[in-house]
Amino acid sequence: MLTQNLSDYWEKLYTTGKDYWDLGKATPALLSFFKDARCPAEGRVLVPGAGRGWDAKAWAERGHETVAVDFAPTAVDALDSLSRKIANLTCVDRDLFELTPAKYGKFDVIYEYCCFSAIHPGRRDEYFEIWQKMLTDDGLIIALFSPLCDDDTMVGPPHATSEGELMARMDGVFEIQDQIPVANSVPSRKGKEAIWLLRKAK
Ligand SMILES: C[S@@+](CC[C@H](N)C(=O)[O-])C[C@H]1O[C@@H](n2cnc3c(N)ncnc32)[C@H](O)[C@@H]1O
Repeated sequence: MLTQNLSDYWEKLYTTGKDYWDLGKATPALLSFFKDARCPAEGRVLVPGAGRGWDAKAWAERGHETVAVDFAPTAVDALDSLSRKIANLTCVDRDLFELTPAKYGKFDVIYEYCCFSAIHPGRRDEYFEIWQKMLTDDGLIIALFSPLCDDDTMVGPPHATSEGELMARMDGVFEIQDQIPVANSVPSRKGKEAIWLLRKAK
C-alpha cells in the first residue's frame, strides 16, 4: 500500500491531477511577508517538500541562495528545470528525512508551507528534528502552518494541526518569536493559516 512516507504516493497525486495544493504561483502570504521587516534580507534558505517550486523560486528571486527539496519525480523535474534558469536555486531530489548538514550545509532560514501537513503526524517530531539539525544556531524558521485549526488531525493529508499540538511539540526545542495572522490566504484556506517565526530554544 502506498503511504505518504513514499515518493510514489505523491507522484500518483501529481500524475492523476490530484495535486490540489499547487497554487500555480508563489503563495500570496509569502510575497506579503517578504515586505515585512521581520523577513530576513539575506541568508541561505531551505524549502522542504517544495513541490513544483513556486515559493522556492520566489525566495531565489529575492536574492537568497535557495535549496528546494522534494522526492516526487514530477516535482523534482519542475524544480530541476527552474534551477537551470535561476542560478541561486538548487534542486535536491531526496527524502527530506535524509538531509544532513554534512552534505548540504546549514541554513539561515527554513521555509515551511504545506510540508508539515503532508507528513504523517507520527513523524512530526522527526520533522522538527530535521529543522533543528539543518538550521544555524541563530537561524529562523518561517512556518506558514496550514491547516492550523482544531479539526481531526488524523484525516489527510493534509493533516491539520492546532496551536496546542504545536506548542507541546516545540516545547524545549523551538521558541516562538512571533505569530502572524495571514490576511490573503487562498479562499479554501482562509482562517486556517498563520505564519509562525521560530528560533532554536536557548
Ligand atoms: C502538499 S505538497 C506541498 C508542495 C509545496 N510546498 C506547495 O505548497 O506547493 C507536499 C510535497 O512534499 C513532498 N514530500 C512529502 N514528503 C516528503 C519527504 N519525506 N521528502 C521530500 N519531499 C516530501 C511531496 O512530494 C509534495 O511535493
